[in-house]
Amino acid sequence: MMLNNKTTLITGGSQGIGAAIAESLMNEGINVIVTGRDKSKLESLNSQLNPNGDRPLLCIEADVRKLEDMTETVKKGKEKFGTIDIVVANAGVGIFTPIDIMTTEEWHQTIDTNLTGVFNTLKASMDDLKSNKGYFITMASLAGTNFFETASAYNASKFGLVGFTQAVMLDLRKYGIKVTTIMPGSVATHFNNHIPDEKDAWKIQPEDIGQMVVDLLKMHPRTLPSKIEVRPSFPAK
Ligand SMILES: NC(=O)c1ccc[n+]([C@@H]2O[C@H](COP(=O)([O-])OP(=O)(O)OC[C@H]3O[C@@H](n4cnc5c(N)ncnc54)[C@H](OP(=O)(O)O)[C@@H]3O)[C@@H](O)[C@H]2O)c1
Repeated sequence: MMLNNKTTLITGGSQGIGAAIAESLMNEGINVIVTGRDKSKLESLNSQLNPNGDRPLLCIEADVRKLEDMTETVKKGKEKFGTIDIVVANAGVGIFTPIDIMTTEEWHQTIDTNLTGVFNTLKASMDDLKSNKGYFITMASLAGTNFFETASAYNASKFGLVGFTQAVMLDLRKYGIKVTTIMPGSVATHFNNHIPDEKDAWKIQPEDIGQMVVDLLKMHPRTLPSKIEVRPSFPAK
């Protein structure tokens, strides 16, 4: 895909992996729309990546759990950039708690964000992806194939997301839309209230996922890495 002047929507792009993808894509001449719920995080990303207001970045307060927020996001993005070619459904939460004490709210927050949020994001952008023969990427996790204690809701959401994305890939291939799910292991971000520091040097860094997305977009049109497991090269010390 020729990248210059294409437009990408990244959900949950105000920090972490999504923000790093935004930066990598802007460096390739791609217009970027990022979403998140917290206005102050979006403002701080905007002042970091777009300090003079002259770079192609649009930050929109929107909750992936609400289809109407995603429809409005696509509308605003198209008003600014004309169309949407690439969608990265990245927004996600991690709530880790044993099933016997997990609340209904925690279950719904996880499933509604990590799974239904991706459905809402795709539904809102489907027409643009079809008319542009675009690219749809989801941010799953190695927790979409490995299960562990306290992760029942997170595992359910990410196993579900891997299955969803693979089936979507088969549905959309015939329209010339590429679909990939990325399944990272540990990435150094604020995920699950973590504070990244120098002890995280062994982990995947967010910019590595940014580079991976650039590489996927640049891949020859005939070839599609549809499911990518990615992990730190060396285990934690
Ligand atoms: N870090 C890891 O080790 C790791 C590994 C595998 C997969 N992942 C996946 O990678 C994705 C990004 O995680 P990260 O590590 O970058 O975490 P992060 O630093 O916590 O960032 C999460 C982003 O998602 C946004 N978000 C959360 N709920 C949202 C909602 N309902 N609507 C819109 N935006 C929402 C957050 O902004 P607001 O809070 O302002 O909404 C934030 O911008 C997630 O799907 C996560 O499951 C992470």
